[in-house]
Amino acid sequence: MGVQLTYGARGADQAASDALVRFVSKKELIQEENAGAIIQPQIDHALRALYAKGLFKAEPEQTEIVATLGLYPAAHIVFTGIEHDGGVRGLRLAAAAAAIALKKIRAANITVLLSEDLLLSFDKSCGAELAAQALTEGLLLALHVREPLKREPNERFTLKAVSFEPQGANAKAEIKALWEQGMNKGKLYAEGVSLARDLTNLPGNDLTPERLAYHAEELARELDLEIEVMDEWSAAEQRMGGLLGVGQGSINPPRMIVIHYKGDSSSDEAWGLIGKGITFDTGGISLKRADGMQEMISDMGGAAAVLGAMRIIGELKPAINVVAVIPTAENMPSDRAIKPGDVLRMMSGHTVEIVNTDAEGRLVLADGLTTAITRGATRLVDVATLTGAVSVALGTEATGAVTNNDELFKQVQSASERTGERVWLFPSYPEYKKKIRSDAADLKNSGGRYGGTITGGLFIGHFAEGLPWVHLDIAGTAWLDAGRGWEPKGATGVMVRTLVELVLHQEEAERRG
Ligand code: BES
Ligand code: MN
Ligand code: ZN
Repeated sequence: MGVQLTYGARGADQAASDALVRFVSKKELIQEENAGAIIQPQIDHALRALYAKGLFKAEPEQTEIVATLGLYPAAHIVFTGIEHDGGVRGLRLAAAAAAIALKKIRAANITVLLSEDLLLSFDKSCGAELAAQALTEGLLLALHVREPLKREPNERFTLKAVSFEPQGANAKAEIKALWEQGMNKGKLYAEGVSLARDLTNLPGNDLTPERLAYHAEELARELDLEIEVMDEWSAAEQRMGGLLGVGQGSINPPRMIVIHYKGDSSSDEAWGLIGKGITFDTGGISLKRADGMQEMISDMGGAAAVLGAMRIIGELKPAINVVAVIPTAENMPSDRAIKPGDVLRMMSGHTVEIVNTDAEGRLVLADGLTTAITRGATRLVDVATLTGAVSVALGTEATGAVTNNDELFKQVQSASERTGERVWLFPSYPEYKKKIRSDAADLKNSGGRYGGTITGGLFIGHFAEGLPWVHLDIAGTAWLDAGRGWEPKGATGVMVRTLVELVLHQEEAERRG
């Protein structure tokens, strides 16, 4: 993304911009007419007239495009509703709404006005750095849509230059450094999310396990990170029965991918980030129904989230250690595929009775956790499009979580509050664990429909060897049928930013002592 971001560089000269973005609160519109206070007398008047008619009410995410017809240097102004107490999430949403409006008028060089009121509200809420980051993320992420593979490709609209302009008498020069830091972080985060979205949107015939490994290798090379890609023979040597079992039904063999990030050689602690990488999930012998099956290209959304996070971590180079693990396979029915009733021996030595071949994610993730642990991970977070049940419970509004460690979950939760990616914790009462006991093996791979997200999560947790572990079920949030806020239709890249915030915060906490 080649967007150029600046703070306070254009000053009063907005002639270079195609459009101006001005965040407005209801309060400003209700206030006694103070002609010119918002932009300029005639334009302010037109905006207030729209408000009086109830057409533009400055509701959150509401936008109004006003042509300036020579009254102002920029050709258009995008008025965007905002609540000054909407927090960092409100800022990201407002910027996203503005971006969608900018795309309508093809305005690629823009100025974002930061009114005195708005700047003051940052002081009270999240601070300038996080505000800058949220606004940048909103602008960039809302525009990153799926690129269809057409004969005549239509070019994706992107912003070329964004200049944030502080306003008011004491035009905040002292926050310039913070703002630039937040802006650059926002851009980097958006790039990581974009990578995750692009990978997830790839069709299954383009993205086999081998191809996913190739993309991981590219990333590792770019970031100068150590990577191991284990093929089916190497996986067999390491007795990865879960990964091999799921992969055996497909002509496209499975892979176990491990990327190492070493930012603190003096520490024995390492984050294990494990992402489900099913490049296509037919359900296997327990075949899924045809309706909507094409969405199963997104069954590697967890893997994509981990790779997106690694891109950001590799650029920011925090003083922490990360072991990123991606077990990847294609879940197909065939004469060689696993069948219900089969028993698999996992890398950990545990045995699993297959009762439903469509519960494949937990099988590859089990070996993923074991792989992370053998490579030195001491805290585990797995991200997976694991269960349809999570969207029955939470819809597309939140990612479901299961954990064995409330302390670690709290860290995930506070990271998610900063990123606006909602996470909701399910209970893990001991009774749920009984539902995945088997008569034929240590465990069975499905506890049935009821409580499916919890039993699915706890199955994975069984392989954590008692280490702190959080499972994030993104089956409802990784893919959307309609765009919203900063997330487009299709792949969302959800949890990329939350994973990064989680591991970065660890570094900060350690630095503080
Ligand atoms: N990949 C699916 C889960 C999924 C469903 C993701 C819808 C995204 C949208 C997963 O592998 C699966 O098939 N889960 C089963 C589990 C069941 C067999 C225990 C499910 O949810 O039905
Ligand atoms: Mn499945
Ligand atoms: Zn799946």
